[in-house]
Amino acid sequence: MTLDVVILAAGQGTRMRSTLPKVLHRLAGKPMVRHVIDNAAGLSAERTHVVVGHGVEQVREALADCRVRFALQAEQKGTGHAVAQALDGLGDGRVLVLYGDVPLIRRETLEALLERVDEEHLGLLTVTLADPSGYGRILRDAEGRAVAIVEQKDASEAELAVRECNTGIMAMTAAQLRRWLPRLSADNAQGEYYLTDVIAMAAAEGVSIVTAQPADPLEVEGVNNRAQMARLERAHQRGIAERLMTEGVALADPDRIDVRGRLICGHDVEIDVGCVFEGEVELGEGVRIGPHCVIRDSHIGAETRVEPHSVIEGAVIAGRSTIGPFARLRPGSRLAVGAKVGNFVETKNAEVGEGSKINHLSYVGDARLGRGVNVGAGTITCNYDGANKHRTEIGDDAFIGSNTALVAPLSIGQGATVGAGSTISKDVADNALAVSRSRQIAKADWPRPRKQDD
Ligand code: UD1
Ligand code: CA
Repeated sequence: MTLDVVILAAGQGTRMRSTLPKVLHRLAGKPMVRHVIDNAAGLSAERTHVVVGHGVEQVREALADCRVRFALQAEQKGTGHAVAQALDGLGDGRVLVLYGDVPLIRRETLEALLERVDEEHLGLLTVTLADPSGYGRILRDAEGRAVAIVEQKDASEAELAVRECNTGIMAMTAAQLRRWLPRLSADNAQGEYYLTDVIAMAAAEGVSIVTAQPADPLEVEGVNNRAQMARLERAHQRGIAERLMTEGVALADPDRIDVRGRLICGHDVEIDVGCVFEGEVELGEGVRIGPHCVIRDSHIGAETRVEPHSVIEGAVIAGRSTIGPFARLRPGSRLAVGAKVGNFVETKNAEVGEGSKINHLSYVGDARLGRGVNVGAGTITCNYDGANKHRTEIGDDAFIGSNTALVAPLSIGQGATVGAGSTISKDVADNALAVSRSRQIAKADWPRPRKQDD
């Protein structure tokens, strides 16, 4: 049987107190609804539908690159009404209903739920909670068969005592939905068309309600406010930290790391507190990351040491490098083996050859440095003339004295030396010395001016 996934994402999320639609709030750096889409992707559904309403334009734009169809629910009249908006686009097989604000649902859990679904069986994901308040409760008959869901606001005292809750996630056939949704009524405490009412309809028709539970209750936790969002974020990050430790990564504190994307580590990687990893980051064997670093979309080769407070983005570091503290590697920074980028150094679109050093307080942009180059403190590649960017090339074993301005386009030859304090705007030949600063003068026994007597 075919599969359609329907993700409900039309609600406003009033309690977030935000102009951003709730489902676009980010968990681990990614909008919640994208987590849902990505997690469901492994199910290989024929189609994925997102029911949108509040902030429809923003949601569409945020999902522009996703292979999903949008169904508009102009007015939010309940979860049953929301699913009904997608009805026309559904195939003839199974339908899985997910929630845009329940981001951590796992594919395996959904697969287990879908396994049993056919015209005689409906799949319902439930969770037993110590505090079930706010959730719809699962009602079972004397034989223990699930027969209905009652919402908190419609429940009797006895029903409120039930701790088995509706996660909202369910799966059934499109034929069943086409039969049941038109029969929903809004005659309830909230005046809404509840999707949950299809359970009683199914039971009345003799369709078995097969319940399943998630392996981890975190999977079905929804987000309604910022506090829940923050809690879910920490719990999710803790899970990532546990996984990294299992893989052999030494974390100084598993509660003080944030991975917003994919972090792949070799053996014996050490990560100190307060680091943030974004996008795709790869850390080679024995890499050590000091406290409070931000690393995005970068590859850091084996035995590299990143000292505290460094920010690295779009960089490729071959290995055995030392970076920072307080270094900033911007996109296109490529460091060969053993290159060193020290404190308060910024690099951008720059190749730094094997063993070359930029140890202090420099800006190196749009440049290529050969091997064994030494760049003195305070060296600036002046790559921008106000209109265009220009390149600086520095040959092997060149020595750039401190406080030098290299005005690009410029080429410094192999083994060349630039005297400290120079402004270099003409190419320097191999093995030459270039100095461009006012000559020092010295006057012997020079009488220093004195204050005149009145
Ligand atoms: C719903 C369930 C409840 C369950 C709980 C789990 C119903 C009637 N109740 O309650 O049994 O325990 O989820 O969290 O289904 N949405 C729309 N359009 C609407 C209404 C809702 O798209 O008209 C979307 C919301 O954006 C949200 C989801 O559906 O993603 C759930 O809606 P919400 O109002 O939060 O339902 P609950 O009252 O929490
Ligand atoms: Ca909810």
